[in-house]
Amino acid sequence: MLSMSHQKIILTGDRPTGKLHLGHYVGSLAARVKLQDTHRQFIMLADMQALTDHAHEPEKIRQSVLEVSLDYLAVGIDPKRSTILIQSLIPALPELTMYYLNLITWNRLKHNPTVKLEIQQKGYGEEIPAGFMVYPVSQAADITAFKANVVPVGDDQIPMIEQCVEIVRKFNRLYKTDALVEPEILTSPIARLPGIDGKAKMSKSLGNAIYLSDSADEVAKKVKGMYTDPTHLRVEDPGKVEGNPVFTYLDAFATDKAKVAELKAHYQRGGLGDSVVKKYLLEALQAFLDPIRQRRAEFARDPQAVMDLVFKGTEVAKQVAHNTLLEVRGAMGMNYL
Ligand code: TRP
Repeated sequence: MLSMSHQKIILTGDRPTGKLHLGHYVGSLAARVKLQDTHRQFIMLADMQALTDHAHEPEKIRQSVLEVSLDYLAVGIDPKRSTILIQSLIPALPELTMYYLNLITWNRLKHNPTVKLEIQQKGYGEEIPAGFMVYPVSQAADITAFKANVVPVGDDQIPMIEQCVEIVRKFNRLYKTDALVEPEILTSPIARLPGIDGKAKMSKSLGNAIYLSDSADEVAKKVKGMYTDPTHLRVEDPGKVEGNPVFTYLDAFATDKAKVAELKAHYQRGGLGDSVVKKYLLEALQAFLDPIRQRRAEFARDPQAVMDLVFKGTEVAKQVAHNTLLEVRGAMGMNYL
């Protein structure tokens, strides 16, 4: 069992609203695969958080719980070393959320930059679901319930961790306790993978993603249509490497760094066609994705076995979160029983 108390604790998670893509891999999955050797890692399928902006699509969330679990297993998250759990099956989380909601102001919530951006992108106007407005508080419950010291996530999550730290400090000060632990964010070296259209972020809603589960043909088609340097019209023209997603992906996924450096230099000099670089990128991506696809297909043969792994993790997590809840209620002097 991974209960060695000297290990640092990680809590991280995803909203299950679709399959995971290369951006998820670079932004956090790669770190999780490494960190499971050295940390006590909890990985949350944040289905309640998914409902805050997908209340109309519970079926999609339910299906995505399985799909995302398959993605986790396929990239090498090992249920023996990491605990995968389903948020909505842990009753301590909404209970903690209710207590924390009293420790943060409405004004503070309104100024969370990531939430503001999402409100804009989703076009909510004045009709923001209340649950959506407060999801950072529920995320603070996720993190603190497991006493996480480290949260490895993309840089869009920085405001969530900041709000969590504020809540932890307020709680510990107000109730004169050290029951809650301040988390630290761990961002990845490649904070954001651009989309295949060259837009700043690969995302499902922008329709510019390559999924971990895409077939070889789908990947080939997507790479072929990738945005490059729009001013690189003829092969002999010098091309730009910065802001050219083909090269960003090569940096992230090609293992032969010397070859990538050579391609970059050649491209910048002129004389290297987009199709040649894309062909090399495709090879690199297929080499990266092939084993992932294979493992995914193997696990997908027995979905019940996958769900059983997740349910088992959830049971472990439920106990941990419940213990924190008892401490929290104790600190508040609200343990009636
Ligand atoms: N907000 C995260 C995202 O959109 C998902 C998430 C939910 C999460 N709870 C979390 C991430 C706790 C880290 C820790 O990707």
